[in-house]
Amino acid sequence: MIAEPTYSLEGLTGQLSGLNNIEALQTLAGLFPGEVIFSTSLGYEDQVITDLILSNNIPIKIFTLDTGRMFSETYSVWKKTNDRYATKIETYFPNADAVEKLQTTKGPYSFYDSVENRKECCGIRKVEPLNRALAGHKIWITGIRAEQSANRQSMPQLEWDGAHTLFKFHPLMDWTFDEVTQYIKDNNVPYNPLHDRGFVSIGCQPCTRAIQPGEDFRAGRWWWEDNSKKECGLHSHEETFKP
Ligand code: ADX
Ligand code: SF4
Repeated sequence: MIAEPTYSLEGLTGQLSGLNNIEALQTLAGLFPGEVIFSTSLGYEDQVITDLILSNNIPIKIFTLDTGRMFSETYSVWKKTNDRYATKIETYFPNADAVEKLQTTKGPYSFYDSVENRKECCGIRKVEPLNRALAGHKIWITGIRAEQSANRQSMPQLEWDGAHTLFKFHPLMDWTFDEVTQYIKDNNVPYNPLHDRGFVSIGCQPCTRAIQPGEDFRAGRWWWEDNSKKECGLHSHEETFKP
């Protein structure tokens, strides 16, 4: 039996260095066939990555977490994207029993009552389905950019995610917001119309609002909470070991 090659963070970072985004995604798809997966929230950044993947026929799976609380505009851009690229974005949905229990015991807006309740809802609607989506994969592609938050400024473009035991690659890490919007325009990529109404970072409808000029990119997400608590658990890492 041929032993599977293993990659260190350093080795893989070296393999990707100097490559443009298309080459980097192609390289990862070639090194890990069937094990590279991209999570799209259908926001600006993710639409750029979807375009990079599908316009270049890169064999990377694309999925979205439908929390059940998304904006109708998000469903529209999802449909437009499926049509434009003749694709079918895979969907992961929360466990019905868990949602029934949550809403029966705490009602439909428990997340406004405490950070604990908010994390419980994100846990049920996002984190558990995410774990199912990522299972069996070695590379997780995201649309994270350094500019989005103080927390994200210190993230490397390729990192080890000890919680999911895979590498995370953020192709647009160093892109500015203007570069993202310019790409969307130049390539006529479908985008969420909420972006034209002051929504920059778009998540669930009850937990997202538009921002004012000059406000932080993520100021419209869980706006009633303290800044330090504003991650929903998709991107928090509990390091177990570093490869
Ligand atoms: S979040 O952690 O606050 O929700 P954010 O909206 O900034 O994340 O998006 C960062 C990246 O997380 C996106 O580029 C995407 O890869 C992933 N992501 C966020 N929300 C979803 C979703 N609903 N479905 C799939 N991926 C998502
Ligand atoms: Fe629930 Fe809001 Fe988290 Fe969406 S963002 S999963 S509605 S708490």
